Amino acid sequence: MNKERKLIIAGNWKMNKTVAEALDLAAGLKLELANVKEVDIVVCPPYTALSEVSKAILDSNIRLGAQNMSEHNVGAYTGEIAAVMLKEFSVRYVILGHSERRQYQQESDALIARKALAVHRAALKPIVCIGETLAEREAGQTEQVLSTQVRGSLAELDKEQMVETVVAYEPVWAIGTGKTASPAQAQEAHAFIRRVLAGMFDETVARKVRIQYGGSVKPANARELMSLPDVDGALVGGAALEARSFTDIIKNSI
Ligand code: 13P
Repeated sequence: MNKERKLIIAGNWKMNKTVAEALDLAAGLKLELANVKEVDIVVCPPYTALSEVSKAILDSNIRLGAQNMSEHNVGAYTGEIAAVMLKEFSVRYVILGHSERRQYQQESDALIARKALAVHRAALKPIVCIGETLAEREAGQTEQVLSTQVRGSLAELDKEQMVETVVAYEPVWAIGTGKTASPAQAQEAHAFIRRVLAGMFDETVARKVRIQYGGSVKPANARELMSLPDVDGALVGGAALEARSFTDIIKNSI
């Protein structure tokens, strides 16, 4: 597939996989994906499996991501994880502001913006998630919601940092529901997000930023979604939990 930006396909394992299960999956992916060079491949296991998965994918083309990170560097923040701790395991990417964290942990755009800056200061790359709910889409508020989230969650970044940031458009109504955004809906939202980035930063920055689609991505719909001009990858949940389906998503996208 001839793309303007290199595709980045990441598996968000969410709160799944014991260490043993994570190692099984990592071993399968390492084997199946060994020859893939066309796509940046990322896996984001739970914190408890980062150490072992990091060792398992050493010397492979698979990069490691975390699912969250503290905005603070060190100190009395019970239950939180700092950048320096992730770097011990060669983590390269950090998912921020996933809709599940926005919903269950009340994460705000302002907090996500501070976390994104902390991620960059540690020389890691954030994958910043945005997306509207079904109620917001049905009320015709999609563009307003996306604009607010993009402007708010990326507010602390400069142009150089923005270029090294991945944005994940994940319509909340498509996550884990089996309902994928139609190609037209996905392209429209991605193009809109890129226009907002052009307004916030400039056209050159907007053209370089990779925008992933997330929400019920499967082997059967990956090719069509990844072929859209403003879709530069995928953030995969359920289908990233098995080597076969995650591998097929990637191979179908090449
Ligand atoms: P599903 O692929 O299970 O819909 O999850 C998408 C997601 O939330 C990835 O972060």
